Amino acid sequence: MGTIHIHGGIPLQGAIKIQGSKNAALPIMAATLLVSGKCLLKGCPRIADVFYMQKLLESLGCVTRWEGDAIAIEPVNICMGEMPADAVKGMRSSLTLLGALLGRCGKAALEYPGGCVIGKRPIDMHIKALKQMNVCFGENDSMLYAWSKKLQGGRITLECASVGATENIILAGVLAKGKTEIQGAAKEPEVVALCDFLKACGAQIEGAGTEQICIEGVEKLYGAEYEIPKDRIAAGTYVLACMAAGGEILLKNAPVKEMDALLDITEQMGAFIQKSRQEIYMQAPKRPKAVSKVQTAVYPGFPTDLQSPLLSVLAVADGSSEVKENIFENRFRIVPDLVNMGAKVQQVDARTVHIEGQERLKGAVVTARELRGGAALVIAGLSAQGETGIKDTIYIDRGYVNICRDLRELGARIYSV
Ligand code: EPU
Repeated sequence: MGTIHIHGGIPLQGAIKIQGSKNAALPIMAATLLVSGKCLLKGCPRIADVFYMQKLLESLGCVTRWEGDAIAIEPVNICMGEMPADAVKGMRSSLTLLGALLGRCGKAALEYPGGCVIGKRPIDMHIKALKQMNVCFGENDSMLYAWSKKLQGGRITLECASVGATENIILAGVLAKGKTEIQGAAKEPEVVALCDFLKACGAQIEGAGTEQICIEGVEKLYGAEYEIPKDRIAAGTYVLACMAAGGEILLKNAPVKEMDALLDITEQMGAFIQKSRQEIYMQAPKRPKAVSKVQTAVYPGFPTDLQSPLLSVLAVADGSSEVKENIFENRFRIVPDLVNMGAKVQQVDARTVHIEGQERLKGAVVTARELRGGAALVIAGLSAQGETGIKDTIYIDRGYVNICRDLRELGARIYSV
């Protein structure tokens, strides 16, 4: 399952380029099912979840080919065959295949999707919304079946701004009959990217990035080339790594405009930040200052995916902080490992932790339990005194192209075996 070894305590220095966004790439790959012709997705990150999605698309009849960091996908002969169970179960985003398959074939059969163990992650909103689009559902212990004689647009109100549910409605709506209106849509940049890609293929969508998205169904979509946007969470991970380890770094190709919430907090913690359109230069303070209260929120608020990485910084900050997790109910799984490394983190209630910043953490053997928690342990290891071993790094590979290589380029002593 892989182990990362880190010799901590070395300030970061240098420049790296940011990878393409995982959470933009996955639904866009699913969306290629809706297209007649070949799509070329440039700057697609070569990570485990993207390979899972590639495998799923191939099992459904797509022809795929990597050309450097671009992946060409052509849905040649789509059939609703068996999808590899390991790929569906291993990845939450296999759920976006539901909307895409309904749009393409009028039916879908999926094993209940898996993903990180960060909460219950129900799919009730996806199902309720698609039912309003004339989709019928059936299920047994492990499988979900969906079918529709003709997808029909409708007026759908989401009770909370779910990213995945918004994406599934868009995927089902672009080839549906008539107009689909989503009220309470997710505003995340990854939703905007999905809409931009679909528009490049001929879809008619308005309002992406706002709470109200309007889709006018079209007859057909055509192949297109599209550049996957850069990964705001990967970029944020490196910003926080520099905060914990100290030093000064330059992030090239960073999605700067999407990172305000993180960069504001980083400045509050004492960093010097200089932004240009696609670059972030930062100088970390000698020791980060604590922040009295941070809470995660939907975009443009502080992203839940950077909550664990932030904990690793606050663990060595000067003063005490409080972090509240509002999106997922089980996203403090790294707390015992941070405590094992000498952090003083206390769970106040199910959603809140209190952190008493320590001068230093100490290296230890810890275990990655999910993607962003794993990245947070890497950050903790970079700042800790001595050696840290992180086991089960397979989780980290799901979202980062090569976190060890990137951090080595910034001068860290880190390698994986
Ligand atoms: N929810 C429901 N019912 C639903 C759908 C969602 O109760 O039908 C709840 C979830 O349980 C959660 C909240 O709504 O508590 C938000 O979930 P959302 O649907 O917005 O999240 P998601 O689509 O499952 C995506 C990202 C996550 C990211 C969240 C929030 C992908 C593949 N995943 O998940 O990314 O944390 O949005 O921004 O895009 C990660 O990259 O590590 C990751 C977990």
